[in-house]
Parts: sequence; structure tokens; C-alpha cells
Amino acid sequence: MPEASNRRNKIMPSILSADFANLQREIERVPGADALHIDVMDNHFVPNLTLGLPVVEAIRTITDKFLDIHLMIEDPDVWAPAYAEAGAESVTFHLEAAKAPVRLARELRSKGARVGMALKPATPVEPYAELLAEIDMILIMTVEPGFGGQKFLDLTLPKITKARELINGRGGDIWLQVDGGVSAETIERAAGAGADAFVAGSAVFGADDPDSMISSLRSLADKA
Ligand code: DX5
Ligand code: ZN
Repeated sequence: MPEASNRRNKIMPSILSADFANLQREIERVPGADALHIDVMDNHFVPNLTLGLPVVEAIRTITDKFLDIHLMIEDPDVWAPAYAEAGAESVTFHLEAAKAPVRLARELRSKGARVGMALKPATPVEPYAELLAEIDMILIMTVEPGFGGQKFLDLTLPKITKARELINGRGGDIWLQVDGGVSAETIERAAGAGADAFVAGSAVFGADDPDSMISSLRSLADKA
């Protein structure tokens, strides 16, 4: 399993904006990525359907990159562990969908994955402060989940700041990830609020040179 990147600011391109007919070629266009972000949607938790376990298993066979799975699905308690078994380094589920988040987080860790807990824009982070000991990443959605190419929601910035305070108050190595509308125009605001892991779909795969966009995004975050 690849080691987690030790860069302060990690850029994680979302393959949702890649060419699904040529995933291997698309993945080869982002050698500088700290992780590949893979969006699993089930048409129930969100109004869109993407890909699932067989595709993640196939991606695992063609790359050693850190795989960051973002499950936008109902019943993650049932479905999430298989992604850890498939060799994903990180598995993130939504707190709005999990029935027993502590049990699920412990199961994922026992299978060797880092654990992420995701919150939609209207879900507050404070009620989950006690769960920090059980997780390795908080994902603050900066758009309503379901689609790439949406506009970054500035209303999420205070929650990013709050999550950063909670993480710093605890210590340890918990990443603070943002996902949705992250671009050269918005990444500094998210980094300034305390994020250190940045998912970018359309900004990276829509660029003429995706890998140099990754470097540009990382430099902008580093100087924020
Ligand atoms: C949206 C997904 C995102 C999506 C982001 O629900 O979780 O990962 O790919 O796309 P952009 O960066 O285009 O907003
Ligand atoms: Zn995502």
C-alpha cells in the first residue's frame, strides 16, 4: 500500500471529471497527485450514479496511487468495508447516511484503511467532535454532493475553521478535506480556513495540463 503523502497540502484530483472511457490514460495524466479521489454514487443518497466496487478493483490493478474513496451512498455500514478490502487507502462515508459510524470506522481501520467522515454543507461539525479519535479525515463538502463542476459554497468556510479548531485541539494526524468547486480561484480561501486536503475534479481534468494544474493548486494552498 502506498504511504500517505506527507505534504502539508495534498491535492487529490477527482476522476469524476475524467474520461470514464479512458480511465487508465487519465490517471497517467496526473502523476503529481497526492491521491486519486473516487466518487461512488448510488442514485439514492445523491441524485446521480457513477461507479462502484468493480471499477475501484480495476483501478487498483493499474495504479499504486493512494486511493481516496468518497462514498455518497445509503447504507455505508453494509457497503464501505469492501472498499477497504479492495485495497483503498482511505474510505470516507457520509455521517448523514451511517447508522453506526463508530462501529463502521473501527471496522474500516481494522481492515487497514484510513477513515474519513463526510458532512454535507448543512450538517454541523460540532456534534461529531467526540468521534475524532475514531477517524483520520473530516471531509467538508463545499457543494451539495452529486455532481462535478458546481460553484464553491463560501457559507461552508466557518465550518472549515471550526473543524480545524477541533482537530488542532485534539492533536494527531487528522486531515481536513474539502470537496466541491475547488479551483485556482477558491483554494486559497479553503486553505486559509484550515483545509489541508483538496479534491478538485473539473479544475484538474478540465485543464490543458492537469499535472501542472495540480502544482499550481498546491502552491496556492501553500502560500495561503
Ligand atoms: C461531488 C463530488 C466531487 C466532485 C468535485 O459530489 O464529491 O468529488 O468530483 O468536482 P468539482 O471539483 O468539479 O467541483
Ligand atoms: Zn467527492
